Amino acid sequence: MMNEDELHNITRLPKVELHLHHEGAAPPAFIRGLAQEKSVNLDGVFAPDGSYAFRDFVHFLSVYEAATQVLRTPDDYARLTTALLEECAANDVIYLESFISPDFCGGGDVGAWREYLHAIQEAADAAERDHGIILRGIVTCIRHFGPEIAKASARCAVETAGDWIVGFGMGGDENKGEQKDFAYSFDMAREAGLHLTTHAGEWGGAKSVRDAVQDLGVERVGHGVQAIDDPALVDLLVEKGITLEVCPGSNVALNVYPNLGAHPIEKLRQSGVKVTVSTDDPPFFHTTMRDEYFNLARTFGWDASVFKEINETAANAAFCDDGTRKRVLEQLERT
Ligand code: ADE
Ligand code: ZN
Repeated sequence: MMNEDELHNITRLPKVELHLHHEGAAPPAFIRGLAQEKSVNLDGVFAPDGSYAFRDFVHFLSVYEAATQVLRTPDDYARLTTALLEECAANDVIYLESFISPDFCGGGDVGAWREYLHAIQEAADAAERDHGIILRGIVTCIRHFGPEIAKASARCAVETAGDWIVGFGMGGDENKGEQKDFAYSFDMAREAGLHLTTHAGEWGGAKSVRDAVQDLGVERVGHGVQAIDDPALVDLLVEKGITLEVCPGSNVALNVYPNLGAHPIEKLRQSGVKVTVSTDDPPFFHTTMRDEYFNLARTFGWDASVFKEINETAANAAFCDDGTRKRVLEQLERT
């Protein structure tokens, strides 16, 4: 059993976070402030205590989209970027990849998307100067908007692929359609040199993870935790060196697992799967990276060496260029 000092020290380790939704990281007070400025009615989005209110995953997605309505301009996204990077830096995150969706940033129009991206990058550059935190973007399509709308997101991704937009991914309702319905968009992104990830095995079972690997050719999987139910798939993930972007607090908050003790992250790690730790949508799920580390250390007895290994795994699976990766690994090495 770790004492309080040891647990505290673990929460202060430098961290690499690979799975965070840009809008999902918006503090409720930030969204309320914008709603007031713009006179947008957000009835039903907040609980009486001011936190986000939702009953289940599908309701969460609709509350998420309702809250996102107040983010209407590139400047709103710049302000959001500043707020979320300050919070991540306060949690000792040194490198972050966030999911940014053209559907919310310009409605899939490439010209408008470029303006949003420019504003986000300017805010990220300032945060790197002020706090040392490095941000890179993963363009994200939204599964329940369907394969045609996803193609518009993929076009935005292709047009802006480079050192900063480093990946293409998919979030949204995993119970809608199949991974392969989005193969055209993922192929476009791959051909533009982008790295690939998709949400799978959060709701769609082990089969969805297998489909993600076989039909979309992703290198990383968002969540992926339900792979634990298929031992042959676990072996495949190990053999292919697929990294899972595991978000334990999100899975417990959305009741994928009843509590952290029942969560498969430790079993996956013990099986040799590359696991990493992220927060997904931290204010929605009442979590932070420091909370995640605290809870994992307390529940599974993970010590600093386990977290160091997980952060090195995350840095090695990051979609950034090798020069940036080296800087991140050197920073991890110093602790
Ligand atoms: N978008 C934001 N959070 C998500 C999650 N946990 N799963 C799927 N899509 C999301
Ligand atoms: Zn997610």
